[in-house]
Amino acid sequence: MILIDGKQVASEIKAEISLEVNKIIKNGGKPPHLVAILVGHDGGSESYVNFKMKDCAEVGFESSLIRFEDDVTEKELLATIEKLNQDDNVDGFIAQLPLPSHIDENKVLEAIDPKKDVDGFHPTNVGKMMEGLPTFISATPLGIKILLKRYNIETSGKHCVVLGRSNIVGRPMSVLMSQKKINSTVTVLHSGSNNIKEMCASADILIVAIGKPGFVTADMVKKGAVVIDVGTSRIKSDKTKSGFKLAGDVDFENVAEKCSFITPVPGGVGPMTRLALLLNTLEAAKETQFVDVCCKDMI
Ligand code: GUN
Repeated sequence: MILIDGKQVASEIKAEISLEVNKIIKNGGKPPHLVAILVGHDGGSESYVNFKMKDCAEVGFESSLIRFEDDVTEKELLATIEKLNQDDNVDGFIAQLPLPSHIDENKVLEAIDPKKDVDGFHPTNVGKMMEGLPTFISATPLGIKILLKRYNIETSGKHCVVLGRSNIVGRPMSVLMSQKKINSTVTVLHSGSNNIKEMCASADILIVAIGKPGFVTADMVKKGAVVIDVGTSRIKSDKTKSGFKLAGDVDFENVAEKCSFITPVPGGVGPMTRLALLLNTLEAAKETQFVDVCCKDMI
């Protein structure tokens, strides 16, 4: 069994991104600039956004955080997005999800200029991704795609089962896996699926993104399968100082020995998701600043 080290791969590619930033600056350009909009004080969202800002600093990007309280109006948010769309000093920006329930999330995502939509959530970019056209691919699917490639995992003709159909992970992941370069045969399983156990056990590549700690047990995994665990649930633990730990959707202890490759939680998909946002921001800067950067080689 090979443990897929997302932390290591992300760190290697971050070093490559730093070199690209140096090149941009040497050629008279500006460091790529990522802006994050954060609404409210949800602990998970706060820590995700903090990591995103920290990652930017690590590779030499500029980053800014725009904060709003929970009672921000949709109108205020949309006005901020319009400003960012027009701001030549901003290469890419994201609105951290989820947003409060009085705000129409789709309206917000659709207001973002697709050229600055480094999350890849705008319907124009989702549509381009569906058609296999160059665009921003959302961070977790892009991170997983890079991991599969870096570990030379054979995908062509393989049966890939994606467990979960979210707009952020499961659905775009299933589209990517069926595209010509990856060439897998894809099954998407969700809460309305029958025979989930049997279907998972038929997977050569099993990608799990349902947010249920330990859901995938050893009897659901074929011997020699590749298992990618997207789960990051925060659960109680008496073994950590904080009293919590991150738990994946896979019962790692019992599943790992059956796999050819498996991602750990933490240290597997998570660091690659963060990395992918940096890659998209670099790509955005390439478009806005007309500079020549070579992210494609990293992917
Ligand atoms: N919330 C959970 N994941 C994400 C993400 O990738 N982007 C944004 N904007 N919000 C999220």
